Amino acid sequence: MMLLQLFIPGKNWCLSLAELTSFLEARRKIFDVNYISKDFFALSFAEKIKASTIDDLGGIIKIGNLVADIPTEIVRRSFLQRNQVAQIQLARAITDSGIAENILEANSKILFGVSVYCAEKSLQSLSKVIQRFIGSTIKRQLAKNNKKSKFMGFAKDRRQPQLSHVEVLKKNLIEKQAEVLFCIGEKQTWIASTIAVHNPFEFQKRDICKPSQRKIFAIPPRLARIMINLAFCTPGKLLIDPFCGVGTILQEALLMRAKVVGMDINQWCVSAAEENLKWIKREYKLSAADFRIIHGDACNMLKKVGFEQADCIVTEPDLGPALRHVPTERYAFRIIKKLQPLYFDFIGEAYNVLKKGGRLVLVTPYIKTRSEKRISMEIEEKSLDIGFQRVYPFKREHLAEGAMFPDGLITRAPLVDIEARHKIGREIHIFHK
Ligand SMILES: C[S@@+](CC[C@H](N)C(=O)[O-])C[C@H]1O[C@@H](n2cnc3c(N)ncnc32)[C@H](O)[C@@H]1O
Repeated sequence: MMLLQLFIPGKNWCLSLAELTSFLEARRKIFDVNYISKDFFALSFAEKIKASTIDDLGGIIKIGNLVADIPTEIVRRSFLQRNQVAQIQLARAITDSGIAENILEANSKILFGVSVYCAEKSLQSLSKVIQRFIGSTIKRQLAKNNKKSKFMGFAKDRRQPQLSHVEVLKKNLIEKQAEVLFCIGEKQTWIASTIAVHNPFEFQKRDICKPSQRKIFAIPPRLARIMINLAFCTPGKLLIDPFCGVGTILQEALLMRAKVVGMDINQWCVSAAEENLKWIKREYKLSAADFRIIHGDACNMLKKVGFEQADCIVTEPDLGPALRHVPTERYAFRIIKKLQPLYFDFIGEAYNVLKKGGRLVLVTPYIKTRSEKRISMEIEEKSLDIGFQRVYPFKREHLAEGAMFPDGLITRAPLVDIEARHKIGREIHIFHK
């Protein structure tokens, strides 16, 4: 029997889904994707995913274990038509799921939360009403069992009735099995109990407490983690970052028990990365951590690293100058043109250094312009000429029977990561040798 679990993605849900399925595929897990939306994913497994898996993922915010499911039609009838029979059916589904009985008592008064993730458009404006209904149903059930309880409320201006991962952590809701996830798809609605949430404090610590910092060029540790998973990097594999800077990708890979080699043309970066990796080794007690940082040019790394040595290469080369203003299209093209030779030379060298079957996960610049057009680097043709194959991370074979990908997802590659406040974002390419 397949066991269903719910996953709440980060802001860039495409990247989160690609990371999750790559992580599972790399570990040969048997899984089906039952439902995809920007709000949540439902996946079923031959063997459930452990709560600690969340620490290996950069793009998943919460994981929940299914306790019950109901047709969304009942939810629609309950709240759009205010049908009392449907409301009774819904309340019964919640009480019969046993979710109230699973909540562990820490004090005389139980504290619990309900987060609603609604992908069904017609119900989105009613999410807060739905959340209160579920909270009250659970509270009534607890009262029937002679238990006093408090249902965690939200500030009025909160847009979605969802607890943040930080709130769940601070109130110890995981240990008490006291957060209920109510995930509404177009046809099916899933009720789950949160078993894990992303711990932002650990990522923050690695981002801001490492001894050598270089803020503007460093990649966020969560994105580094996502890219490492897209590269199919599992414990014991050799990962190379030939443009390692202060070593963010390398530090995340070490934490995933990979062996790592870094390279940078700038001697200051070589020393900084070394210092940071020593710090990670001490801080996380990674006595077996195996790393080497080389001073040199990534376009000549074959000499220093050797032929077909790396299981994966995960890297972010130069993305161009820090821009104070959104550039014109012409200037953006100039930036790309100037950087292109470095990327082209590097891709050829990466092919030689990678083992057969290895993956290259490469960031290229993605530039906003004043005309709203986004300018990116054309590397596909060059990569294919060299012998690489592009990896499309969303595969039909991952889908459960009857499940569907949102429009255009199956052919989506590369993946884009850009924030509203940024002028240059990242295109993330996955190639396979
Ligand atoms: C965008 S930064 C990488 C940032 C890195 N991911 C981090 O988190 O610190 C690009 C790095 O590539 C290095 N670099 C530029 N050209 C290089 C080359 N030809 N070979 C090796 N490193 C190079 C730069 O010194 C810089 O540290």
